[in-house]
Amino acid sequence: MEELKKFAEENYIPIVRDRTAKALMEECKKKSPKLILEIGTAIGYSGLLMLKSCDGYLYTIEKDESRYQMALKNFNLFNMSNRVNLILGDAKDELEKLVNQNIKFDFVFLDGPKGQYIKYLPMIKKLLNDDGIVFSDNVLMHGLTEHQENVTHKNRSMVRNMIAFKDEIMNDREFESKLYNIEDGFIISKKKGIKNN
Ligand SMILES: C[S@@+](CC[C@H](N)C(=O)[O-])C[C@H]1O[C@@H](n2cnc3c(N)ncnc32)[C@H](O)[C@@H]1O
Repeated sequence: MEELKKFAEENYIPIVRDRTAKALMEECKKKSPKLILEIGTAIGYSGLLMLKSCDGYLYTIEKDESRYQMALKNFNLFNMSNRVNLILGDAKDELEKLVNQNIKFDFVFLDGPKGQYIKYLPMIKKLLNDDGIVFSDNVLMHGLTEHQENVTHKNRSMVRNMIAFKDEIMNDREFESKLYNIEDGFIISKKKGIKNN
């Protein structure tokens, strides 16, 4: 895993940071999910961490063909291929397909394009079992969601979308959410079961 991390760093591939990774693994271990969904595979680093933390099966979506190929290789290398459905495609299209297949997940790691979280949320809600967990990474966007005066024109809509996502999930009564001001910020949201509504 250290080698994968080093490879990602050297090749400017963004992967989950250390303290966030620790929290992700702890949550995964605690939840012990049967089915996990990850949006944004990159080279499979976080997927492997989750697989190592539980006995569940992982669906993971990646749009970039070369990262997809590297992830395939890495899941193989760690003998995890039989526990992974690695999907090459755009997350929006693939999430729609999963909704149509009526598959339900116990744990979702949202780590894809930052400006799209808000668009994915309604689909993620449909895909999540009662009592399921959504772990959303990078919600502080290097402090930009708190200090919009520093946002460049190019990033404006992405940051706005992330702020909208943060507000939406933190205030959604179907979830109990907590924001962690650690590294790039993450939110852990627990979907309330019917009995807890
Ligand atoms: C932060 S990286 C994921 C890191 C990975 N979860 C980890 O920690 O090891 C985000 C990934 O999302 C992918 N991505 C970006 N837009 C996407 C889209 N529309 N659909 C699917 N994947 C996308 C990027 O290619 C990138 O590899």
